[in-house]
Amino acid sequence: MTVRVGFVGCGGRAVREMMDLVQMPNVTMAAMCDISEDRVAAGLARLNNRRGAGEQVSAPAFTDCRKMLEAVDLDAVYVGLPPFAHGAIEHTIIDAGKAIFIEKPLAVDMAVAKEIDAHIREKGVINCVGYQWRYAGPMEQAREMLANIPIGLLIAIRLGGLPATPWWRVQAQSGGMLIEQHTHSVDAMRYLAGDVATVYAAAATQLLTDVPNLDIADVNAASVTFVNGAVGSIVNSCAVAGQQMPNLSNAIHIVAKDLVLAASAGSLTVMRPKQERQEIKAESDDSNFKLNATFIQAVESGNGAEIRSPYSDSLRTHAVTVGAVQSAREGRIVDVRELL
Ligand SMILES: NC(=O)c1ccc[n+]([C@@H]2O[C@H](COP(=O)([O-])OP(=O)(O)OC[C@H]3O[C@@H](n4cnc5c(N)ncnc54)[C@H](O)[C@@H]3O)[C@@H](O)[C@H]2O)c1
Repeated sequence: MTVRVGFVGCGGRAVREMMDLVQMPNVTMAAMCDISEDRVAAGLARLNNRRGAGEQVSAPAFTDCRKMLEAVDLDAVYVGLPPFAHGAIEHTIIDAGKAIFIEKPLAVDMAVAKEIDAHIREKGVINCVGYQWRYAGPMEQAREMLANIPIGLLIAIRLGGLPATPWWRVQAQSGGMLIEQHTHSVDAMRYLAGDVATVYAAAATQLLTDVPNLDIADVNAASVTFVNGAVGSIVNSCAVAGQQMPNLSNAIHIVAKDLVLAASAGSLTVMRPKQERQEIKAESDDSNFKLNATFIQAVESGNGAEIRSPYSDSLRTHAVTVGAVQSAREGRIVDVRELL
């Protein structure tokens, strides 16, 4: 079977996914939609530039998702929108009965995401969210090592710069760093240690006060408790000039019974009492390809069982970050389970 894929949103992330999909012989990129045809053309140009001498991709361009679905017979649609733009587009795709791949974060709030989740359940469409760390070898190995032992503490720190994308710095458009970006680490924490029960956060705009049109917190510190009794800390800043800090960003540090891990998509450090420290490198950096291949395989077979990042589970990650933002705003502990 050839899987006919459409895209809504042809920005930076969509092009990254296209780079994987063009390598799959059973995938055709059949249609592309953005707010203007120029943006579709720009996305295709970026894809074709990155492919160099490879076969050039072209696809009909649309500015309305509904018209795209009426005009082209698609099996699956990738949704690569800014966080504030989620909602009606997903409902149109789900109503049409198409498989749907949605980039994180699910939305800027819980209400939009919960409605989409309910609609996906009602229609039973194959669905996947772009949490690629779940498909990384070192994460899988960490999960196996932690499966049957008590976990005490999880720490996620992300210190990075301010992305240039204009919507990123606007709270109402991106949700801020916790919801938009550090959600990857929160999702990895949940993948390794299970669900979060409560969150208590502090946030401030301390350092980027000279950046025009910025109203997100540039420093965030959240304490969480897990249902299994573990506690955790999620700390970030987007006010770090230059490169990301090595050894901190994008790794989850876990203290468990007789085991300490630092797990990321690319590597796993293992420390056990009286043993040499073990450094395990990912065999290849193919977690994003695996994410896409798993989704396409599910569309082909009609069976979503292998998808590690379904929407319903991603909603629980989203609730942690939305809860953290709410906690910082209201100055109180938020029970994440009450948001679901
Ligand atoms: N998993 C990852 O590692 C990863 C990496 C980067 C981005 N992302 C996520 O991907 C999403 C998109 O990010 P990006 O960097 O591609 O952003 P972007 O701004 O480069 O692209 C978004 C595109 O959506 C289009 N768009 C906006 N509203 C639309 C609408 N109503 N209909 C059709 N198109 C519309 C915009 O014109 C733009 O071309 C974000 O949620 C981001 O968090 C994920």
